[in-house]
Amino acid sequence: VSLKPYNTFGIDVRANKFIKIRTIEGLKKILRKTYAEELFILGGGSNMLLTDDISKTVLQIRLKGKQVLEEKDNYVIIKAHAGENWHEFVLWTLKQNFGGLENLSLIPGNVGTSPIQNIGAYGVELKDTFVSCEAIDIQTLETKTFSLEDCEFDYRNSVFKNKLKGQYIITSVNFKLSTKNHQLKIDYGDIKSELKQIENPKITDISNAIIRIRESKLPNPAEIGNSGSFFKNPIISTEAFKNLQQKFPEAPSYKISENEVKVPAGWLIDQAGLKGYRDGDAGVHKKQALVLVNYGNASGNDILELSKKVRAVVKEKFGIDLEPEVNII
Ligand code: EPU
Repeated sequence: VSLKPYNTFGIDVRANKFIKIRTIEGLKKILRKTYAEELFILGGGSNMLLTDDISKTVLQIRLKGKQVLEEKDNYVIIKAHAGENWHEFVLWTLKQNFGGLENLSLIPGNVGTSPIQNIGAYGVELKDTFVSCEAIDIQTLETKTFSLEDCEFDYRNSVFKNKLKGQYIITSVNFKLSTKNHQLKIDYGDIKSELKQIENPKITDISNAIIRIRESKLPNPAEIGNSGSFFKNPIISTEAFKNLQQKFPEAPSYKISENEVKVPAGWLIDQAGLKGYRDGDAGVHKKQALVLVNYGNASGNDILELSKKVRAVVKEKFGIDLEPEVNII
């Protein structure tokens, strides 16, 4: 099978064996007869760059369903299965008037992969509403529940990207969402200006504003292949940032701690003159330089080469190392 429809970058590599997983029992059956090293787990395919054919057995996790597990006076606990599309799940929560995920509207991918990189946007991260997730140990087939603490969430990071990498398949995630007195987060970037006309915004207004902002600068993977931000925003010392500011007084930053700031990689790439740069079908997006795009028939290696060029140019100009956010396979 071609994996082109299953990765948002739209990279045309092949897999010998491709199995759609619709039940936990079905998943366990496969795990029982396959070695862990021979498996490749696929969710929504929205955070990976495939650079070669896959000889392993690809398992596409399609576990569906969502339930209210607990209903209290001012919150609910919701369980969503791994194969639910993230944005459709967010829209469903908003329709029930459950608050907390509105700022995470329109993020590509599935529920099951959201904890791996602690998805985040517009001042909110997955960890803010995350209660726990269930995962199956690929070796022992045991089900384990991971609490918020167990997941060791950090900026675009979790235990599943580090010491437990490749060891578990997340099958569902539980969220704690508000049912009244929603805590709106509207301080990030353009949200307020996008909400200008609305006096008392509701969670759906925030979601709509964020959808409009995202649509105005992020390419729709259904039209132009991409994986969202290709790089992480680098975290540098306040010292290093002061030096940067001497040359570039307008450099944006977000304070992380007393001695660290995060600098938008999109700004660095833009200032380095690469916004809109294109080499064949691999390009730097015209409206948001942090996103690398496949205009049609770029190979994974074309994109990888472009990413290396971007890193080299940014390093040369600013002395800052960019780290990929997407998983390069
Ligand atoms: N900027 C430029 N030129 C560009 C892009 C950005 O000058 O081409 C400047 C902007 O003007 C702004 C700053 O950089 O001052 C930040 O830009 P933006 O608000 O668009 O956000 P970002 O830092 O580039 C991060 C996330 C996005 C998320 C947005 C909004 C990372 C790696 N990326 O991008 O996440 O949607 O904030 O919260 O943290 C993703 O992970 O796939 C993703 C899209």
